[in-house]
Amino acid sequence: MGVMPADDLDGRLARFPRLGIAHLPTPLEPMRRLTAHLGGPELWVKREDCTGIGLGGNKLRKLDTVLALALDQGADTIVSGGVVQSNSQRQVAAAAARLGLDCHLAVFHGRVAPPGADYEVSGNALLNALFGAHLHPVPWTGDRNGAVRALAEALAAAGRRPFVVPYGVSSALGAVGYASAAAEIAAQSAALGFTPDAIVHCTGSGATQAGLVVGASAVLPRTEVVGIDIDAEPDRVRADVVRYAREAAGLLDLPFHEDAVEVVAGLAGPAYGVPHQATLDALALAGRLEALVLDPVYSAKGLAGLITLVRRGRWRRGQRVVFVHTGGAPALFAYREVLRF
Ligand SMILES: Cc1ncc(COP(=O)(O)O)c(C=O)c1O
Repeated sequence: MGVMPADDLDGRLARFPRLGIAHLPTPLEPMRRLTAHLGGPELWVKREDCTGIGLGGNKLRKLDTVLALALDQGADTIVSGGVVQSNSQRQVAAAAARLGLDCHLAVFHGRVAPPGADYEVSGNALLNALFGAHLHPVPWTGDRNGAVRALAEALAAAGRRPFVVPYGVSSALGAVGYASAAAEIAAQSAALGFTPDAIVHCTGSGATQAGLVVGASAVLPRTEVVGIDIDAEPDRVRADVVRYAREAAGLLDLPFHEDAVEVVAGLAGPAYGVPHQATLDALALAGRLEALVLDPVYSAKGLAGLITLVRRGRWRRGQRVVFVHTGGAPALFAYREVLRF
């Protein structure tokens, strides 16, 4: 397929109702000082941390579409599952508060050994409480999906109309919602007079990358989409991205080729939620050079991966690479004890 006009992709995306609760489009900005520091390709940042409510992040773009379906189905209560410092849960809680829906979160304890006492109570955990979510502790090693299902069933039995938001807001519909980010990058970079050579971001539950791949293959077919695996589970992540991308492409009537999905392993530390030195260095550089607030679980791992690829010479000077800042800043406070600047 050649380049699809941006309006054509916008038209296909418009078939899926959106609530308009996310602040879109998010800015696309140059990272001049980081570019000069690394001496490689020209680096840009897509500010998905600026999606608005509840301190923002990439999940709000997915939720804009997924919660439109929830309201259409008459839901009055949102149910979701995630770890203690999940940004996804916090954005679900924020969106529910904004929409006047009850929110029940199954909170998975034990995936990450807490880096300090703040982990359980600060950052996203504090914000979940601020947004009025009801928190239900579940052990990470237990039947997590079963716990979310049981929560929804108990609420339904009590006369509520629950809607379950999938883990990480990742589903085919979540990917359709996220494809709009590729449409924005295409329009914004065209207005600035360039076509990105690559879009790089951190990838976990998969629908962010799936949406970017599907959207980019329509409107930015020569732009590589590179996901930096932050789960230390690259095969599982890639399989999920491929599945959501294939389904989303089907919903949007777009072609999908599996080779468009690149998940880079081994650049983001030993395990989920454990920042390695390169992550901490990337976090500090982004703050010092660009006043960007990254987080040690997702976005700084994504940037650490990008920096390694730049240092390996994957792109040359004169090429342009867009880093997607997917958000996550609240977790910074939960990881305070391990951060040294
Ligand atoms: C800040 C941040 N960045 C990136 C991601 C990864 O996005 P996805 O789960 O769609 O792969 C997440 C997901 O939790 C996140 O919270």
